[in-house]
Amino acid sequence: MLVTPQPNVRRGVQVHGFDPKTASDADYATLRNHVYRDKIVLLKEQALSPPDFIALGREFGTPSVYYEPMYHHPEHDEIFVSSNVPAEGKPVGVPKTGKFWHSDYQFMPDPYAITLIFPQVLPSQNRGTYFIDMAQAYNSLDSDLKAAVYSTYSWNSSRRYVKIRPTDVYRPLGEIMEEVEEKTPAQLWPTVLSHPVTGEPILYVTEAFTYAMEGRGGDSLPKELLAELLEASGQLDLTFTHPNIFLQSYEPGDILLWDNRTLIHRALHTSTPEATVSFRVTVHDAHPLSAPTKAA
Ligand SMILES: [Fe+2]
Repeated sequence: MLVTPQPNVRRGVQVHGFDPKTASDADYATLRNHVYRDKIVLLKEQALSPPDFIALGREFGTPSVYYEPMYHHPEHDEIFVSSNVPAEGKPVGVPKTGKFWHSDYQFMPDPYAITLIFPQVLPSQNRGTYFIDMAQAYNSLDSDLKAAVYSTYSWNSSRRYVKIRPTDVYRPLGEIMEEVEEKTPAQLWPTVLSHPVTGEPILYVTEAFTYAMEGRGGDSLPKELLAELLEASGQLDLTFTHPNIFLQSYEPGDILLWDNRTLIHRALHTSTPEATVSFRVTVHDAHPLSAPTKAA
């Protein structure tokens, strides 16, 4: 196994010669360390079956089953499928997922530690994922803004980006919204989290899920403060040229792992009607984030 810094990408390492079946405990410990410290690990030349992909995830934590079954792989619930390719005339997984800045499961009581992506069918262009390192984003804030948000809390909800399911057609929107609030009540997280492994401060707000901020005593903070954080971190830049944004692209055989607490991401969708299929496994590790101080 040869681990080297990624060429042409700002963060992370790439790994050649890694075979999950023969890798030692020390190899896995090395990779876990790289995910937490370097934030991205790109495993090259992988050809894993779905069960082997899930087994790989298990080396990094406990694979989770996504709460909405429409995303599940038809035979393996732990695999979340992003796909625009039907099988036997029926959709498999969900197309066009994640085209907004977010951290996976940030709207849940127990957000994922690590995300693993294994592209299955890659389009010829626009293949990749945009990332922002939110530890770096926090460090780059000016000292007044850092001080203004340090001891605050932020509310996060899935409500703006929940996808209507095929079974929801003809249901009243109000009823669906009530169900969303019941299934995924908003979560309150510290605006600045401490990474449970590295201790780094992380700005934990995203354009997709964060909708309000409050002070330590529960007082509402002005909407402009959240907008300022989103702007400063690069999440409002639709040209994707903000210095915090970097693009990770994929080649066939790549498996990408990232630290889902430090990095936020945004899918880059193909602009052509090309086939695209990607498998995802997400895991919880032994270092959960501190529990939210309140539930909605
Ligand atoms: Fe995502």
